[in-house]
Amino acid sequence: MSEGLEIDLLEGVGPVTKQKLGNAGVYDIIDLASRGMSDISDMLGGDNEKASELINKARNYLIEKGLLTKEFIPASELYKFRLQIERISTGSKNLDNLLDGGIESGAVTELYGEFGSGKTQICCTLAVIAQLPKEQGGVNGGVIYLDTENTFRPERIAEIAKARGLDAEKLLEGITVAKAYNSSHQELILKELGKFIETAKVKLIVVDSVVSHYRADYLGRGTLAERQQRLNSFMHQLLRLAEIYNVAVVVTNQVQAAPDFFFGDPTRATGGHVVAHLTTYRIYLRKSSKMRIARMVDSPYHAEKEALFIINEKGVDDPPEERKK
Ligand code: GTP
Ligand code: MG
Repeated sequence: MSEGLEIDLLEGVGPVTKQKLGNAGVYDIIDLASRGMSDISDMLGGDNEKASELINKARNYLIEKGLLTKEFIPASELYKFRLQIERISTGSKNLDNLLDGGIESGAVTELYGEFGSGKTQICCTLAVIAQLPKEQGGVNGGVIYLDTENTFRPERIAEIAKARGLDAEKLLEGITVAKAYNSSHQELILKELGKFIETAKVKLIVVDSVVSHYRADYLGRGTLAERQQRLNSFMHQLLRLAEIYNVAVVVTNQVQAAPDFFFGDPTRATGGHVVAHLTTYRIYLRKSSKMRIARMVDSPYHAEKEALFIINEKGVDDPPEERKK
């Protein structure tokens, strides 16, 4: 729990409310502000009005303390806020340039592309580099790796660390792996994250992949709207976590060839528009023989350009001819 951010510092919050929230695992104002309305409402026995009032109070409190940006802000303040952003290197100078220095804290970055395009490899490399000091491209932080596809391999982390001359064991200790078995479980894990972020000084959260369980759980059920709504709420909560705790969030999303798609790009992100509208940055990855190409899509801060990188024993790396430069 964050000291000085106890729930009952909020005006009008008494011991009963504090107890109810505490019973459900919400102990401080940061955690309260990061929750969704329906979540808090459930904890208060279905009182929607009170829930939304509480969340607003929590958000306003954090805004006053300078821990959160408000909806309407002078550009100068926004600029200051953006100066606080920390960046995690991807391991490739090319890819870092595309991202203006690396993956941003306080934002969600979506990596999307077909199978084998390098999504998981980028996540693994980031999980190593995030833990390093700033001079080495990191942010000195812990990592949470939410693995929904059972593709997280500690041996690969060890290999990447060793190839970079780093202490593999220590770096493996800095990564907390959460395996989600289905979409409900994935949502449950997300709700538990707030506490972990503080105790393990987490600076990077990876969700690999964000959509696969939703796709599987709603397969053939004809309930696309419900699926999108739940995915929407999951993404919203991730964004709130990123903003409130100033952590970098990276999600992956596999694109599939859509048989009913006759125009534009034949591959599209499976989350459909929900993921696209909520993530702050989107990077489209594709294969080109041994190379990988990354393209920044729809970013308010970056030029739409492309970068070449490769995957080798170091995880993500620059193509050999680029490294000589
Ligand atoms: P899906 O999860 O199937 O959608 O694919 P992805 O985009 O996550 O692909 P991933 O990052 O797992 O793999 C991309 C490529 O990295 C693979 O095609 C391999 O060429 C390479 N790769 C994967 N694992 C290793 C490894 O342990 N060592 C090396 N050197 N390369 C690897
Ligand atoms: Mg993968």
